[in-house]
Amino acid sequence: MFKFNFPYNGDQIETEGREIEMSSYHRESVQQYRDNCCPTTTVGEFHLLDFKHIEKLVTSQQSGKFESLNSVLQMNSDLLTGVYEGGLKIWECTLDLLEYFEKENIKFQGLNVLDLGCGAGLLGIYALSRGASSVHFQDYNAEVLDLVTIPNVILNGNPEMTGKTRFFAGDWGSLAQMLKNYDIVLTSETIYNPENYSKLLKVFQETTKKSGVIYVAAKHHYFGVGGSLFEFEKLLRQNERWETSICFCSNEGVKREILKVFHNK
Ligand SMILES: C[S@@+](CC[C@H](N)C(=O)[O-])C[C@H]1O[C@@H](n2cnc3c(N)ncnc32)[C@H](O)[C@@H]1O
Repeated sequence: MFKFNFPYNGDQIETEGREIEMSSYHRESVQQYRDNCCPTTTVGEFHLLDFKHIEKLVTSQQSGKFESLNSVLQMNSDLLTGVYEGGLKIWECTLDLLEYFEKENIKFQGLNVLDLGCGAGLLGIYALSRGASSVHFQDYNAEVLDLVTIPNVILNGNPEMTGKTRFFAGDWGSLAQMLKNYDIVLTSETIYNPENYSKLLKVFQETTKKSGVIYVAAKHHYFGVGGSLFEFEKLLRQNERWETSICFCSNEGVKREILKVFHNK
């Protein structure tokens, strides 16, 4: 039977920022995933662990290691504020960003990139595959980094690529000191909760180089939670530090956009 073998301390949910090292635990777990023929989902040239399968593995664990995550997934909920912030699955604005990067031939070669609110890590993995110098991945839940992000990076990278990566877990409010000097910040479906807007702006301010750019991919409205791209952009514009432009729109289904954010020169 498949068993997770991660360095956990119970079902404690971490909100204090901390770095998670890629280790033999993650390599062994990727080997276990392979040995157990865990299904993968293919997105373009990338192979990612299948969300439904991971969900099943988490909810079938007896040990209580994933109790909090487990209880949210059992509720059939996409996220539960402050407990699990939705990182196990891939959200659709991530796909918008990939489409945009390909179409516009956006360059990552030699740049330092942050995948902020990375979830499964597809955006960071894309940046690595396009020659980024370094990619840092951040997720609220350490479990998400351990269960899917780091394994996905290993599945899609060679040792040279994986050596360029670092992983950070915790709340944005406690991470600004640990994340520094990025040329590009990628963030998809992270503005659903207006209570986090000031923290996000602080992360933008403190982590992006003056010459850097931030891509915010989001739905127009997050019904039920209150987030809105319009409100987020308004907040950015009220702060004279930032300039914004909309570089991608989709009116299919739920309206979505990509906002490009720069430091005001
Ligand atoms: C809806 S998921 C989107 C995941 C991924 N970017 C995608 O598009 O598939 C939201 C992401 O933001 C992160 N997040 C949400 N609130 C956060 C907070 N207060 N502090 C740190 N990370 C947070 C979650 O951990 C998760 O990775």
